[in-house]
Amino acid sequence: MLCYLNGKLVDRTGAVVAVEDRGFVFGDGVYEVWRVVNGRLFEMERHLDRLVFGLRELRIAAPDIVQPDVFTSVAEQLLASGGLQDGEATLYLEITRGVAPRAHAFPAAGTAPTVFMMANRFVPPNEVRTRGAAAITVEDIRWLRCDIKTIQLLPNVLAKQAAAERGAMEAIMVRHGIVTEGSHANVIGVLDGIIRTHPTTNLILPGVTRAVVLDIARRLGIPVSETALQERDLSRLEELFIVGTTGDVMPIVRLNDQPVASGRPGPIARQLYSEFRAHMDACCGVARVA
Ligand SMILES: Cc1ncc(COP(=O)(O)O)c(C=O)c1O
Repeated sequence: MLCYLNGKLVDRTGAVVAVEDRGFVFGDGVYEVWRVVNGRLFEMERHLDRLVFGLRELRIAAPDIVQPDVFTSVAEQLLASGGLQDGEATLYLEITRGVAPRAHAFPAAGTAPTVFMMANRFVPPNEVRTRGAAAITVEDIRWLRCDIKTIQLLPNVLAKQAAAERGAMEAIMVRHGIVTEGSHANVIGVLDGIIRTHPTTNLILPGVTRAVVLDIARRLGIPVSETALQERDLSRLEELFIVGTTGDVMPIVRLNDQPVASGRPGPIARQLYSEFRAHMDACCGVARVA
């Protein structure tokens, strides 16, 4: 299978990044993940915009790949090389500040960013969705620019591992008593019939799925309040779910080994998933069987 590295399509197993790459030594870079259905990218521009925002905030020079036509052409070649034009796939794009002798300050102007992209087959977690997933809460130990999708994911990795070690699928992060987000998804709760989720501040990643799901909820007339849940609200939630590119809308039915409400996926999560999936299919040109 091929991947894209610095302007070339190369065999993935033989692709090499320099040991002095700043992504490797400092975690100095950003990334994005797209869902692909039948070769069509879902919300291509929103993800690209978030990537460009991250590059700008970190003052990494934007490489050509962030131009929609260049990006689309590389994406198409990668999907074709992997036989991924049909069915479900993901695309991963990472951009680092490039290769330079190790020193904390930025390298010399003109240092070329490293650009890496790959496509993979994807299987949506539909079985788990039907019965609902378990989660735990963990302390949010991340920095104060969680709105930038950087490759520095150690707190997220540790949170997800803590969940895995307790037989749970996701870790929900809590900062000073406030529910922020999951290890790789945003968190939504239903309290007193109102959908509640952390506002898009520096403390969370502004999820593309979150934005689409909130639009759908508003269109359906479900009240939405972008005010953070408190940790103490968690025990009296009517529903809890996480939303993200690789999970869509995933009901959380157990939290810290206790059932969430009835312990089964709730009606709002189920309705939002079904509308979300229909929207994604429509955007990706998938014909619906009547
Ligand atoms: C920390 C974090 N929050 C939220 C999300 C969800 O964002 P999106 O819906 O754009 O995938 C992600 C996705 O990777 C994430 O890493």
